[in-house]
Amino acid sequence: MEWCLSMPKVELHAHLNGSIRDSTLLELTEGLVGKGVIDISEVEHIIKKYNRSVAEVFKLFDLIHILTTDHETVTRITREVIEDFASENVVYLELRTTPKRNDSVGMSKRSYVEAVLKGLRSITSVDVDFIPHCEDSKSLFSSVPAIGHVRKRIYVRLLLSIDRRETAEAAMETVKLALEMRPFGVVGIDLSGNPSIGDWATYLPALKFAREQRLYVTLHCGEVPNSVEIKNMLDFRPQRIGHACHLEDEHWRQLKSSKIPVEICLTSNIRTLTIRSIEVHHFGDLYKAKHPLVLCTDDSGVFSTSLTEEYKFAADSFGLGRREMFELSRNAIEYTFADSKLAILFRSVPYPRLKSVVEKKKE
Ligand code: IMP
Ligand code: ZN
Repeated sequence: MEWCLSMPKVELHAHLNGSIRDSTLLELTEGLVGKGVIDISEVEHIIKKYNRSVAEVFKLFDLIHILTTDHETVTRITREVIEDFASENVVYLELRTTPKRNDSVGMSKRSYVEAVLKGLRSITSVDVDFIPHCEDSKSLFSSVPAIGHVRKRIYVRLLLSIDRRETAEAAMETVKLALEMRPFGVVGIDLSGNPSIGDWATYLPALKFAREQRLYVTLHCGEVPNSVEIKNMLDFRPQRIGHACHLEDEHWRQLKSSKIPVEICLTSNIRTLTIRSIEVHHFGDLYKAKHPLVLCTDDSGVFSTSLTEEYKFAADSFGLGRREMFELSRNAIEYTFADSKLAILFRSVPYPRLKSVVEKKKE
């Protein structure tokens, strides 16, 4: 586990509210139970369950969203999630979240994203870089300390998610918000939400608009069997897809020839029973085929995992050694939605040294 923990890692598929700390989830639940807003007997089994089906996962999200509806909590969770990723040596994080409107607390999609940005700014335990081009690479390199106390640095970019329960108009609002927030590190759009709900074509105008405006697009694709949707999503040629669990032979052929990178979430797929067992997980086939892949957590809180554990899980399950795992992590840089300057910086460093390069000597 030690080398999986210490190696620099790149996380490209993490949902903000799915990455909530267990302790925070319990604390917030107790708070609302105390206020009589929720009944613990009704939610206890959802919180405490270990293996949740896809339907149960979305029940838990409904509960989490009841707990995290105010700006302060959104800010707090953002701070904690980033601290947690930084603490396990994630050097680059693309964090995604669904901007939510909640009239009862005066929350608009915009103020939700502002609360996320406030969370990013409020972190003091590590250095957080979230505004593109805010740092010139020279100062990064010169900050490599020989000895002494170092501060971790994490580069964070944001993706705004469209939930499959939303209307086409709400999706368009999210894309326009992403454009407005681009100067603060919003780099793309994700389509997620319960895969059994809605029709992805509802969001095509918003997704096409995002692409025209040069926002990157990633789609949750093939979480449930849906041949037509999977084909149409692959035809759309997003910059990345997440999961890719229920592809059929012709989809695999199309995916492999398209070279669309796949965000692989092993624990998420196994826990939700989307994939029967790790032995038959498509990671093995795609890895052998040298298809672009990136290991991710999806929802580290909901699935009680971490990126370190995902690396260990992949290494143990598919017989991969340190060198292969380093390579897997380094290759992920190629699939980020980062601005080219950052990508060049990351590429120009011998990968094992990346962590120490982005760490910064404490003043
Ligand atoms: P949020 O967007 O920060 O609120 O993160 C939670 C949301 O992410 C959920 O309500 C879903 O819309 C989405 N999400 C998280 N995990 C999954 C998944 O495995 N499949 C599809 N959507 C997901
Ligand atoms: Zn996901």
